[in-house]
Amino acid sequence: MALSVCYFSFLSYLLLFVLLFHEASSISHHHHHHHELKSIHFTLFQHETINKTAYLIVNGVAGPSISQTTTPFGTLYVFQDPLTLKANSNSKIVGTAEGTSITSSLNGLQSISIAKITLMMNHYKGSISVVGGTHNTKPSNHPVVGGTGDFLFVQGYVTSSPVDLSGITVTYKIQFHLYWPPYAIPSHPK
Ligand SMILES: *[C@@H]1O[C@H](CO)[C@@H](O)[C@H](O)[C@H]1NC(C)=O
Repeated sequence: MALSVCYFSFLSYLLLFVLLFHEASSISHHHHHHHELKSIHFTLFQHETINKTAYLIVNGVAGPSISQTTTPFGTLYVFQDPLTLKANSNSKIVGTAEGTSITSSLNGLQSISIAKITLMMNHYKGSISVVGGTHNTKPSNHPVVGGTGDFLFVQGYVTSSPVDLSGITVTYKIQFHLYWPPYAIPSHPK
């Protein structure tokens, strides 16, 4: 008797888990409520095409010349790159990354990046602003300094990792880890 009750409750937990998992995966991002702290975690892909979505504005002054992975110290780029749901650049565009990067290491491998990331997703619309050091060939964490719209007061970080640096269009994987502090009341309930 006890065993069958236990088995029944295990089955209902399993069903609940399957339903919850299905809901979470169908909206493509996950909500967590740890101690009332709301957060979301998701991944997009940034595509940058030289002389189309990114331009060299100021030539650098020292160090290695322009290559697939290096730029001279002081090089200033400005970009407005599309963000897509999948690694394929033809997949659905759900955002834009606008910003600048300035080569800040003498070996030409690192830069300081400033970007405003505008997101137009099903459940969240607005922008987040990020600042940080970017390594041309390794993953980099960029702290989120704030946001607008549904991302007002948001904190967290984005991890930018090079996926494909060959060819004219380079692709970066952008992993978002966003947290709403307790005083950030959403403008409308989710
Ligand atoms: C981008 O444009 C500049 C200026 O016209 C040119 O010198 C450079 O070769 C171009 N780069 C690529 C990768 O097409």
